Amino acid sequence: MDAELATGDLAAVPAGAWVLLVAQGPELGPVARALDAAATGALAQAVGDGGMVGRFGQRRELTLAGTGLAAGRAVLIGVGALDQLDGYRLRNALELAVRGLDQARVAVALEPAVVAAVSDRDGIGPADVARVVAEGAGRATGEWSARGRHRAAFWVETVIVAGLGDLDPAAAAAALRAGAQQAEAANRVREWQWRPANQLTPATFADEAASLARESGLEAEVLDGDHLKGLRMGALLGVAQGSREAPRVLVLRYRADPQAPTLGLVGKGITFDAGGISLKPPALMHRMKADMSGAAAVAGAMSLIGRWRPPVNVLAVMLLTENLPGGGALKPGDCLTALGGQTIEVTNTDAEGRLVLADGLGYAAHLGATHLVSVATLTGAVEIALGHPVTAAMTNDPALLERVRHAGRLAGERVWELPMFPEYDVCLDSDVADMVNAAESRAAGTINGAVFLREFVDQRPWVHLDIAAAAYNFQANLVGQVPKGPTGVMTATLAHLPALLSG
Ligand code: BES
Ligand code: MN
Ligand code: ZN
Repeated sequence: MDAELATGDLAAVPAGAWVLLVAQGPELGPVARALDAAATGALAQAVGDGGMVGRFGQRRELTLAGTGLAAGRAVLIGVGALDQLDGYRLRNALELAVRGLDQARVAVALEPAVVAAVSDRDGIGPADVARVVAEGAGRATGEWSARGRHRAAFWVETVIVAGLGDLDPAAAAAALRAGAQQAEAANRVREWQWRPANQLTPATFADEAASLARESGLEAEVLDGDHLKGLRMGALLGVAQGSREAPRVLVLRYRADPQAPTLGLVGKGITFDAGGISLKPPALMHRMKADMSGAAAVAGAMSLIGRWRPPVNVLAVMLLTENLPGGGALKPGDCLTALGGQTIEVTNTDAEGRLVLADGLGYAAHLGATHLVSVATLTGAVEIALGHPVTAAMTNDPALLERVRHAGRLAGERVWELPMFPEYDVCLDSDVADMVNAAESRAAGTINGAVFLREFVDQRPWVHLDIAAAAYNFQANLVGQVPKGPTGVMTATLAHLPALLSG
């Protein structure tokens, strides 16, 4: 997919359809008004008595054939109140607008008031807003969106953006290209999230993600079971022992400068989480095919990092296994020893994500990561706490978290902190080992996951991102605001993070 700047006469832009952003008011901006002159007033009419009020996600498609516009169609998309518009909402509005348009070439009329609103709110530049817009339009395409009985395959090939006249054309064009790359990476991640567990095993994910990484100029190494035994990854191997599919660990490296910091990205890659012997209830269990969303986001981010070449080293560790209740499975009460020597009493085999991440964090630290970020669909509790439109973050280092939040604003993704007060530490108390993997109490479940992981970061600055809710949107009343299905969340945020760690 490409994204480029509109040049010359807007009416003549060679696209199948225009996307026009309508803020609550409603009012057409100057770019839309210029188009409307060629469209003989059809756009203004849709906003006037046509009922388009600019409510977020409100969508109207118009046919413009026979007017002075080269594009035969337009879609008006509501972006809601400008004082509530952030990059996340803008990106989603673009995806909602373009999804289902069935046009290979889509033009977007970006309005100055929209750019200013998002740029003010998120503290990012106008070129960053343009990048988020290009990503949003490009997200409306992809293999995963073409699955199912009622879906037709739909591909966007080119996004053409108008309304960036105040920007240096070279900078605007570069931002749009980066946005197109972000869309491609996020869609790749979403396709992995969507793929059922019989088609995406630890081995197939490792091979596909390794090829993507190599195409992006990165070093990739796939570790198999024997190698993991040699490394003493007892926690990961404990989770894997209940399945026939063998585990893998995928290690990717981007090398910038040996003197620079090394960011370690550690992703949970459970290709199916049945819960193990602590079996999950059947309702919605099929959604656990997406329990590899953290690893997928890390792999997608690394593909962008390989292309963008930031000045900081990045090391990625993805822990890939199923969590099934086979005859060899881990049993509640079993004790494991993690790579770093810590002993763990497994009180609940369904708290497997933190077990595999324990070894992943330990391994990333061992390989030289100076900063760590873990990304995982770790707890159902995060959906109760925050729902789908935001990622929960916990940290031992507020400065690193601030950089992650900044990366999130550059990416049009939201990150919200949950506390790690010392009172939460009791969740680890065990009578037989250094810690339990799951507390008796269900209170503060998301935080308890982070309290456990902190035991494995070897004092390094670390941020943990719980994406168990943000990785997917299935919430019916959010579907008009957040596109339904897998989101590829944190792919772009993690890709922007390394550049923010230098200096
Ligand atoms: N993969 C789940 C978390 C999850 C739940 C992701 C719902 C997406 C949607 C994780 O492995 C899990 O089962 N966590 C347990 C932890 C508990 C046993 C301490 C949970 O959240 O119930
Ligand atoms: Mn689980
Ligand atoms: Zn899980």
